[in-house]
Amino acid sequence: MAPMYILGLETTCDETSAAIVKEGHEICSHVIFSQAQLHEQYGGVVPELACRRHIDLIEPAIEKALDQANMSLDEIDGFAAAYAPGLIGAILIGLNSAKTLSLMYEKPFYAIDHIEAHLFASTMGRNVEMPALGVVISGGHTCLLLVEGIGKYQLISTTKDDAIGESFDKVAKMLDLPYPGGPSIEKLAREGKAVFPLKAGHVKNNPLSFSFSGIKTAVRYLLQKEEVSSTQYPDVAASFQEAVFSDLLSKIQKAQQIHPVKSVIFGGGVACNQTLQKKVSSQIQVPAYFPSKELATDNAAMIAGLAFHKPVSSLEVEAKPRVSFWN
Ligand code: KG4
Ligand code: ZN
Repeated sequence: MAPMYILGLETTCDETSAAIVKEGHEICSHVIFSQAQLHEQYGGVVPELACRRHIDLIEPAIEKALDQANMSLDEIDGFAAAYAPGLIGAILIGLNSAKTLSLMYEKPFYAIDHIEAHLFASTMGRNVEMPALGVVISGGHTCLLLVEGIGKYQLISTTKDDAIGESFDKVAKMLDLPYPGGPSIEKLAREGKAVFPLKAGHVKNNPLSFSFSGIKTAVRYLLQKEEVSSTQYPDVAASFQEAVFSDLLSKIQKAQQIHPVKSVIFGGGVACNQTLQKKVSSQIQVPAYFPSKELATDNAAMIAGLAFHKPVSSLEVEAKPRVSFWN
């Protein structure tokens, strides 16, 4: 049988991305136009601006992806787009583009959950033993899942307030660091030591759940009340990062005691963090899989890759700001 090529699109937040993936794992081309610079001056993503920029960039992204793969649209066997979760207006640009192409070229359409795709990204083209513990750590999500295979997920725990990436972004703002906060904090933390006694939240009656709003307040308190000077910001960044990752690691280990898994798979922007990756490899006994740099933040290759493993979707599928892909 001829190999299947899927063109994927991802526009859920501030990246306009298009990719062509062969047979669910071989990336033929991958274009990511980041809007980070546009939003940096506002300290976060401005939805209205993101939508307009997606409109400008979606066609160039598709053309560049076709160019890089040396293919034309009539050679594409299916069109996929992230339909959720994210900024509704932003999602619509990629979603409607994929639907339109599917109608025009009479090829299947795939609506993909982009958080599920984040988790899939670390397994793409790899032989990962199941069951696995899925760790989703992004700007909007923090959750642990039991993963039996693609499409077979059971939620173990989630956050009761802020997402982990969101807490990085908020603390970064307090430390006058540029958006996005995660990479800025990681960089600054390398110059400091974890000397401040910060701790992530403990959720009563649910030891595997997360809470990051308290630590954010504790950092604010440290900066305002304790009069920590800006020369100590590297220590604040290191202390915050250490506290958050120790909490994550201890909850992963507790989850492993309840669910004996064969591997741990990470997904989402925070999984890029090298300090976390080192901590995990020294403290987790089973193989741990992180997405490659190219697949860690929002990207279309993971969308096109996951689509290969999914049934065809109806063109009626609508964009959703919030949705859960697990049971
Ligand atoms: O998965 P993602 O690109 O978008 C969604 O939220 O779906 O994740 C973005 C989040 C942001 O909060 C960003 O600050 C965080 O991932 N992030 C990091 C790092 N790189 C990105 N957090 C910590 N360390 C990093 N190196
Ligand atoms: Zn994402």
